[in-house]
Amino acid sequence: IPVDSFDLVIFGGTGDLARRKILPGLFRRFRAGQMPADAQVIGAARSDMDDAAFREMVREAIVEFGGNGTPDPGDLDAFLERVAYQSVDAKGEAGWSELEDKLRDDCVRAFYFSVGPSLFGDLAERLRTFGLATETSRIVVEKPFGNDLESARALNRELAQYFDETQIYRIDHYLGKETVQNLMAVRFGNVLFEPLWNAQFVDHIQITVAETVGVGGRGGYYDHSGAMRDMVQNHLMQLLCLIAMEPPAQFEPDAVRDEKLKVIRALDPVEPHHIVRGQYGADEKQPGYRAHVENERSRTESFVALKAHISNWRWAGTPFYLRTGKMLRARASEIAVVFKDAPHSIFGAEAGRHRNVLAIRLQPNEGMTLDVTIKEPGPGGMRLLDVPLDMSFADALGPDGGEVPDAYERLVMDVIRGNQTLFMRGDEVEAAWAWTDPLIDSWEARGDVPKPYDPGSSGPEDALMLMHRDGRRWRDIKA
Ligand code: BG6
Repeated sequence: IPVDSFDLVIFGGTGDLARRKILPGLFRRFRAGQMPADAQVIGAARSDMDDAAFREMVREAIVEFGGNGTPDPGDLDAFLERVAYQSVDAKGEAGWSELEDKLRDDCVRAFYFSVGPSLFGDLAERLRTFGLATETSRIVVEKPFGNDLESARALNRELAQYFDETQIYRIDHYLGKETVQNLMAVRFGNVLFEPLWNAQFVDHIQITVAETVGVGGRGGYYDHSGAMRDMVQNHLMQLLCLIAMEPPAQFEPDAVRDEKLKVIRALDPVEPHHIVRGQYGADEKQPGYRAHVENERSRTESFVALKAHISNWRWAGTPFYLRTGKMLRARASEIAVVFKDAPHSIFGAEAGRHRNVLAIRLQPNEGMTLDVTIKEPGPGGMRLLDVPLDMSFADALGPDGGEVPDAYERLVMDVIRGNQTLFMRGDEVEAAWAWTDPLIDSWEARGDVPKPYDPGSSGPEDALMLMHRDGRRWRDIKA
C-alpha cells in the first residue's frame, strides 16, 4: 500500500548510515511499489555536490548495500529520478532557502537527522528559522541520543523548543526488526503464553545480542561509549521492555510507550557484583580492542553481562540476564524465556530436569523455538527428552514472503505514515539513562578494568559465573 506523498530530507545524506541503510531501504520500498510516484528524497550535507554526483553516490550505495543481487537498472534509474541534493551549512545561512524551494507544500515533510547529536539543535533551529518545518513536519533523530541523562535531557529540551513531541521520531533500529515486532504479536496475539508470562511460571529470562564484528572504524566514538551506552541503554533495554511490559490497551503509540516506560521505571539498580564487563584481546589474526581504538590504556567495555530485576507484581523474583558483546563466537541475538520446572516429577529423579524454553531468535534466521519435554522413543522405559517445536519465519512465510525487510525500511515508512509506536518517547530515553548512569558512574569511580576475553569466545569467564552462581547457565551462542 503506497504511503502519502512525501519529501524526505536526509541531513548527513552522504554519510555511512545513509549509504548503508536509509537509501537502500528507500529503494527497496520504491521497488515494492510503496513510494508514491512524486515522492522526493533529498540528500543534504556540507559538501558541494550537484544532483548528478549525489545520484551516482546513491547508485553505488544501493549496488553495494542493497542486498538481493544486482538491482534492475530500470528500477534504479526510476528511483534516482526521485533523488536530489542540496548542500547546506548546519550552523550558517548557506543552502537553506534553496532547500526550501525544493520542498512542496501539499505533502508530508520529514527531516532525517543522520548526523551526530551535537548538530540536532542547530538543524532544528534552522528548519524553523528558514520556515522549512511546518506544524505537521516530522524530524527523525538517530542514536546516540545523549551520553547520559543530563545530555539526553538537554537534547530533549533543545528539540522541544522547535518541535512538538508528536513530531519527533527517535530511532532505535531494533524496534524496526521484524522479530522484535513479532514479540508483541506472540505475546498479545495468542492466549497460550500470556497466562504463563510471569514470575510464577518463568524461572528467568536471557537476552543475548552477540556480534562477531569488532569496533571497526568507529573506535573514536565507541571508546567513549562502550557496550553499556552503545547497546544496553537502548537496544537491549527495548527488548527487555517488550518482553516484560503489561499488555497495552491498544496498539497505539502512547499506550505502548506508557507500558514500556513503566518497566524501565520498575527496574532495580543493578548490584555492582551483578555486572561483568569485558574487553576483547588480540589473536593471531588481528589486534585486540585497545589497538582497534588506538588507546593502550582503554578501560571501555566491548562486552557486558548483567542481572536485572524488575520490581513489580508480574516479575518480582524473576531475574533478567542481559549480555551483549563484540568479537564473540557467532552473530546471534535471541531472547529466551526459561520456564520453571514442573512442580512435581511423576517420572522420578532419573528422568532428570527438563524445562520448557521459548527462544525467540532475532537474527540471523529469525524464528522461534519452544522446547517441550517428551518421552525418548524406544523401549528403554520412561526416559525424557527435550525437543524443539521449531518455527523459522522464512519457512513459515514461504519463498515469496520470506524476505525479511530491513529495520530502517519499516521505520522510515512509519515516519511517513505518522506512526510513532516504534519510536522512543523522550521520557523513555531519559528513564533508560537514569537506570544506566549510576552503573557507569560506579565503575568509572572505582576505575574498574574490564575482564579480557578471547575473540571468538562467548565473553569473559566471569559472565558464565554470573549465572552459574545462581544455578543457571547461558544458552550457547550459535549462529
Ligand atoms: C548499533 C551499534 O546501534 O547497533 C553498533 O552502535 C552495533 O555498535 C549495531 O554493531 C548492531 O545492529 P545490528 O542491527 O547489526 O544488530
